[in-house]
Amino acid sequence: MALLCAGNGPVSGEEMSRSLGKSRAAVWQWIQELRADGYEIDASPRRGYTLIGTPDRLYSWEIARHLKTAALGRAIEYRPSVDSTNDLAKSLAKEGALEGLVVVAEEQVAGKGRRGRSWSSPFGEGVWSSTILRPAFSPYDAPKMALVAALATARAIDECTTLEASVKWPNDVLVSGRKVCGILVEMDAEIDQVRYLVVGVGINANVRETAIPKEARESATSLKAELGKPVNRSRLLAALLNHLEPLYLRMQREGFGDILGELRERTHTLGRPVRVIESDGAWDGFARDIARDGALLVETADGDVRSVYAAEVSVCAT
Ligand code: BTN
Repeated sequence: MALLCAGNGPVSGEEMSRSLGKSRAAVWQWIQELRADGYEIDASPRRGYTLIGTPDRLYSWEIARHLKTAALGRAIEYRPSVDSTNDLAKSLAKEGALEGLVVVAEEQVAGKGRRGRSWSSPFGEGVWSSTILRPAFSPYDAPKMALVAALATARAIDECTTLEASVKWPNDVLVSGRKVCGILVEMDAEIDQVRYLVVGVGINANVRETAIPKEARESATSLKAELGKPVNRSRLLAALLNHLEPLYLRMQREGFGDILGELRERTHTLGRPVRVIESDGAWDGFARDIARDGALLVETADGDVRSVYAAEVSVCAT
């Protein structure tokens, strides 16, 4: 694949057969398989094979071309369609899958959001991915991974587009104040030890505006809608993993405090009036800061500062 993708023109059958250590017939068979996967390959008896077109698919080798990680994404479980990448990742983790395995799908037919909501995941339009982690930190620290993943995603969007992404505490990523990505972290743990975390990231990369559920159209958007052109989804996923790995390692080594500075700068929620919706009711306040334990510090009308750990927090219109 690397030979074909090098973009240096045609590659002869002989060269392919030598570099793959396979017969010319096996090379021809492989070319047929690539064509079936959507690759456009010109085959000329004299010049050899030329790659003309690459399909817009999240194949592992397309992601690997952009990957700079040691572990994250080095094994990829690709599915055209899946119920939920998080559910598949959890069952693979239960069976012993190693840290870094990424499940990615073109489509989720039962994509999951937070608080039991569903997550719309149309075919070929988004980056629907779940990464298995086996951290050394305690279950108490696990929720911070949502913020870490949000920061990695915001950085990846900045790297791959001309857009400026920000974090909405605790687990969304926004562009122009509208949601482009949601994060769902799930965990299996004992009292003092995490067995595994599944970090599910859903990015509305090339999602058509009409494919965004009606009730979310005001508050959500996609990168394609904001940019006016599609983004390369494989590159975007690789960039996310490239940013997630060092942030995750740093968090394990030096703690969460070390990345708080960048997180504070990137967090759209801070310095704004917010509505905090908890299971037993809603209240208004002013988002002051993010604490070292990941809590959002919200000042109430009477000047108290409350630590919010798990809630829906929306910025109030001013
Ligand atoms: C939310 O904003 O409510 C969280 C949405 C999380 C969606 C992602 S898409 C990949 C992974 N698989 C799922 O079923 N959900 C997460």
